[in-house]
Amino acid sequence: MNEPTMLESINSAPDIVSLVSYIPIPGYGVLPVNAFVIKAREPVLVDTGMTSVRSDFMRNLRAAIDPKDLRWIWLTHIDMDHIGNLEAVLAEAPDARVVTSFIGMAKMGLHGLPLDRVFLLNPGQALDVGDRQLLAIKPPTYDAPETTGLFDQKSSTFISADSFGAILEKPVDNAVDINSKDLREGSQLWASIDAPWLSVVDHDKFGNTLSAIEKLNADIILSSHLPPAENMCKTLLNILSKADQTPVFVGPDQHALEKMMAA
Ligand SMILES: [Fe+2]
Ligand SMILES: [Fe+2]
Repeated sequence: MNEPTMLESINSAPDIVSLVSYIPIPGYGVLPVNAFVIKAREPVLVDTGMTSVRSDFMRNLRAAIDPKDLRWIWLTHIDMDHIGNLEAVLAEAPDARVVTSFIGMAKMGLHGLPLDRVFLLNPGQALDVGDRQLLAIKPPTYDAPETTGLFDQKSSTFISADSFGAILEKPVDNAVDINSKDLREGSQLWASIDAPWLSVVDHDKFGNTLSAIEKLNADIILSSHLPPAENMCKTLLNILSKADQTPVFVGPDQHALEKMMAA
């Protein structure tokens, strides 16, 4: 796998379809990049994938749901692996509003994205999508201040944005299929890349944020950067509880990169 690749969609939770893709990380492995369709009475698309796989992303989205039926596009944050196909989706989803925060809206403006359909929501508030409430949650780790995940009580699923991601050796269908050493090392490596501030946080205070997530009692965790994880909340929280002791990630410099490319 040498370039971003879109794979087939999978049913990852009751009423939720994962739109699955992967980015190669030379020298390290692959990073999953997932968006999600929640088939609520008012259907929701969570994130819009990467521009580099646009035609496959749109095809998989159309196979999961008629985009015209979408009522909400929930942007977990305004990173390019999450907003890459926003304009393409908006063009096919005329009745969808874009859920983000005030900071998210400002960053959308910086990207030249349309703001006329924005709907502002903050962590702690809930979005009513007809047959369920989606509770906006600040995940325990993130790389952007606007990051907002969500808890779907009806399916007991926590959609956690960048949090709980892992760099993997190769694509897998379910997080439970990753052996525990690879999951721990891949998760802590990803956390050190995505949230380098972990190395300077107060360990106990960070523990409190993890406890708050544990209290959600989510049966399923759907991370943007991990295959679906069922009944793994405690395992993933335990891994993350030690991520603040992982050395801060320093990427290869030019010399090392040239050696890697030659190899
Ligand atoms: Fe991110
Ligand atoms: Fe991301």
